[in-house]
Order: sequence, then C-alpha cells, then structure tokens
Amino acid sequence: MEASSLRMFLIQRLIPSHIKIFMPKLVDLLQDVVDSGANVGFLPPFNPAEGRKFWEKVAVSIRDGSCIVLAARADDEIIGTVQLDLATIPNGLHRAELAKLMVHSSQRRQGIGRILLRAVEDEARKAHRNLITVDIPKGDPAEVLYTGMGFVRFGEVPHYVRGVDGELNYTSFYYKQLRTA
Ligand SMILES: CC(C)(COP(=O)(O)OP(=O)(O)OC[C@H]1O[C@@H](n2cnc3c(N)ncnc32)[C@H](O)[C@@H]1OP(=O)(O)O)[C@@H](O)C(=O)NCCC(=O)NCCS
Repeated sequence: MEASSLRMFLIQRLIPSHIKIFMPKLVDLLQDVVDSGANVGFLPPFNPAEGRKFWEKVAVSIRDGSCIVLAARADDEIIGTVQLDLATIPNGLHRAELAKLMVHSSQRRQGIGRILLRAVEDEARKAHRNLITVDIPKGDPAEVLYTGMGFVRFGEVPHYVRGVDGELNYTSFYYKQLRTA
C-alpha cells in the first residue's frame, strides 16, 4: 500500500463472512503492523499462517457474540482495525476489553486510529458495555492516543510481554468509563 494523503474510508463492522472475504487483506495488515515494529501479540518474523489462524478465531468469537471488530476500509483495502472483546461472565457483562487497534504504517497520523477508537466506543455503548480496559506496551505511542481519548492509566506490570528484541517488557493498563445516554 503506498503512503498517501488521507484516503476516503468507511468504518465497517465485520461479520464472519467479511473475515473470510477480507482474509488476505487482514493478514497483510497484521503483517505490516508487526513488520513496523509494533507489539500486537505476534513476534517477527511474522508467519501468515498464524495470522490466518488468529482471524479465523476472531470470526468464531464474532459469531458467538463475544467480539466486535471494526475495520477502516478504503476501496478494497483494509487500512485499520480495532477489536472489542465483550466479557461473558455474569458479573462482567458491563465491560469489554479493547485489542488490536492497528492502522497500516502508510496511513498513520491522519486521525484513523482516533476515528476507530471513537467508533468502537459507540459500539461498546450500544452493547451496554460502559467500562473498557486495554493494555499497551509501556512507552508505545498508542499510550498518547489512549490518554488523549480519556483513558486512565491505572498501573503497569513488569515482564508482561516479550518485545521484538526478545526481552520481557512492561505493559501499561488503562480503563475508561463511558458515559451512557
Ligand atoms: C497506535 C496507532 C493505532 C495510531 O493510529 P493513527 O491512525 O496513526 O493515530 P491517529 O492519527 O488517530 O493519532 C491520534 C493521536 O494519537 C497520538 N499519536 C498517534 N501516533 C503517535 C505517535 N507515533 N507518536 C506520538 N503520538 C501519537 C497523537 O496525539 C495523535 O494526534 P495528532 O496526530 O493530532 O498529534 C498506530 O500507530 C498503530 O497501528 N500502531 C501499531 C499498532 C499498535 O501499537 N496498536 C496499539 C496497541 S493495541
């Protein structure tokens, strides 16, 4: 995907059949984000088969209602995604966990991440989830984005994730309480 000025895009909530249709694009996005040095669960060298397996599991979770995925689509390209995992235990039905907020490296700093985050907050409200949590590798630029969006940092855990350098690193934990109408 070539670096460009902001492309026209739409935010689409994905259903399982979309995951199937867009699988190559979704795997490419994951590959690009891992190759750009981000820690989104996968370590380099990225294995596309692992990426496919990941998205197939996501499709199962969308189908059983425990996960919402939004994609930023520009024509047939997927330039960003965000995932919301809805807690399913009876005492946690008011909360959800954010994951995999990703924007293609050629499309960053144009507001797409912020738009995806706003859109997923709307989805959370619609699903009656007014508490969102997220964990982010400490020092990641995403911390600036989340803080700017009103997320509150409540701590950090050492040795939580392995970084691309092989070392075990700190992870920061955030929450946001959403206003309900
Ligand atoms: C984090 C990420 C999703 C941000 O997406 P984006 O579309 O570039 O973000 P936006 O353009 O909406 O940025 C919104 C604000 O976040 C902050 N921000 C975003 N990227 C930043 C960076 N690299 N450095 C400092 N601040 C940054 C800024 O305050 C920015 O506002 P500004 O551009 O007006 O200054 C993107 O960098 C990415 O995909 N990173 C790899 C995956 C990842 O780390 N995900 C987060 C962990 S779940």
